[in-house]
Amino acid sequence: MELLVTFGLILALLCLFGLKSRRSSLRLPPGPLGIPLLGSLYQLDKKAPFKTFLKLSEHYGPVMTVNMGWQRTVVLVGFDAVKEALVDQGEDFTGRGPLPFLVRATRGYGLAISNGERWRQLRRFTLTTLRDFGMGRKGMEEWIQEESKHLVARLNATKALPFDPTYFLSCSVSNVICCLVFGQRFAYDDEHFLNLLQIIAKTIRFGSSPFGLLYNAFPGIMEKLPGPHHKAFGRIDELRAFMMEKIQEHQDTLSPQCPRDYIDCFLNRLNQEKHIPTSEFHYENLVSTVMNLYLAGTETTSSTIRFGLSVLIKYPKVQESMQQEIDTVIGPRYPNMEDRKSLPFTDAVIHEIQRLMDIVPMSLPHYALKDISFRGYLIPKDTIIIPLLHSVLKEEKQWATPWSFNPQHFLDHNGNFKKNPAFLPFSAGKRACVGESLARMELFLFMVSLLQNFTFSHAGGPDNVDLSPEYSSFANVPRAYNIIATPRP
Ligand code: HEM
Ligand SMILES: *[C@@H]1O[C@H](CO)[C@@H](O)[C@H](O)[C@H]1NC(C)=O
Repeated sequence: MELLVTFGLILALLCLFGLKSRRSSLRLPPGPLGIPLLGSLYQLDKKAPFKTFLKLSEHYGPVMTVNMGWQRTVVLVGFDAVKEALVDQGEDFTGRGPLPFLVRATRGYGLAISNGERWRQLRRFTLTTLRDFGMGRKGMEEWIQEESKHLVARLNATKALPFDPTYFLSCSVSNVICCLVFGQRFAYDDEHFLNLLQIIAKTIRFGSSPFGLLYNAFPGIMEKLPGPHHKAFGRIDELRAFMMEKIQEHQDTLSPQCPRDYIDCFLNRLNQEKHIPTSEFHYENLVSTVMNLYLAGTETTSSTIRFGLSVLIKYPKVQESMQQEIDTVIGPRYPNMEDRKSLPFTDAVIHEIQRLMDIVPMSLPHYALKDISFRGYLIPKDTIIIPLLHSVLKEEKQWATPWSFNPQHFLDHNGNFKKNPAFLPFSAGKRACVGESLARMELFLFMVSLLQNFTFSHAGGPDNVDLSPEYSSFANVPRAYNIIATPRP
């Protein structure tokens, strides 16, 4: 009996001690102090803030606090920390941070910046709709195949003279989203389409500029100051007007039994839930989600293909091996997604292109919607959380040669495709890119069709191709080259 009491007492003490020490050890992740108000903003490399984070983490470790302006920010560095947060502790880390530029552009509505029930509803709906158009009927795969024919024809018309592929690639990739959202593609010289593309490109460019960074840090002040951000918002209003026009056309011709595209599916849902006052399927969410799909789905994918072509020009032997594999396995017929598993080398090259490019080095900001306890630290409610994808895609521990192009990263000794869990260009967990499977379909089908039909080169020769980004902050934007597309015999 005495023994039991003693044992119980010790247990109780241990618990108390354990609890206490646990609570007092729940402190903020370590980090630089920073100047009041400015925080660590002054320390950031304006052209590549993610590099500053990487350097700081050498000192402060994989989970660190960095103050950006008034905003407390926690940065997650390396595969282990990023995966542990976004996947293992996924429920805590699904929150989205209030990226002020995006909030202003979408008026606070839509999938990409929402949280809670709104996000859950829009996310589930968008995933389902993307999946439904991915299979059966005239689905995504056929749209992309169709679009690659147009792309090949356009490149063929350059008659093996040097040209900048940026515009054609934007057209092709945007048209895939146009098919999904509007149920139509545009001719590459359509004026509305051209304007739409320019607005999207300029918006992304602004979002990645130092002014964009400044707006995100001090939206209140910047609203009152003159600067290029006002022009950027003007352009977004134009984009919004275009979307609204298209939605009106859809409303006028809607036939509920056979939805033609994303907008039709959304309108059907909107009509079904008209009587539910709390429904998230309303007009504002439709317009803003459609804008999200454009802004998130066009520049990302087309820049990746553009960067991919530069890589293949720089490494002509790799280009040749890809062509050989493609010729042997599928010959001259149109490629389809079934072919991917028979083209391990091509698949590995495309993965390696995405890894090396590291297109969104800081992902989109996540957010602590409540106090989060992580690895013994406290991440207080309302903290911005940055999963530093850059640090995962270039981590010494995960990759044989993190800083150079090496398709062997994704091949085993027998030349079979080999997955690497640290391949996270689309981020990970519940908030990961909603368009991942569409994007991967596009990268594969466009790249394979291009290599079936052309050999790519650069007038200055392979050695004059610089793969470092033209500029980087929110995104790593690849350099644009005048390339030569020589038709293959
Ligand atoms: C190479 C192409 C692409 C890359 C590298 C990419 C990457 C990403 C990343 C890193 C995120 C943030 C994930 C996070 O918050 O943790 C994201 C979000 C998102 N992406 Fe993509 N993406 C690509 C293509 C696309 C396409 C084609 C679409 C359109 C169908 C798309 C639509 C979105 C949307 C709507 C979000 C926000 C999702 C949410 O907040 O729940 N992306 N993407
Ligand atoms: C490319 O153009 C030539 C004539 O300029 C034509 O004969 C050929 O069929 C075209 N090839 C493709 C793939 O469009």
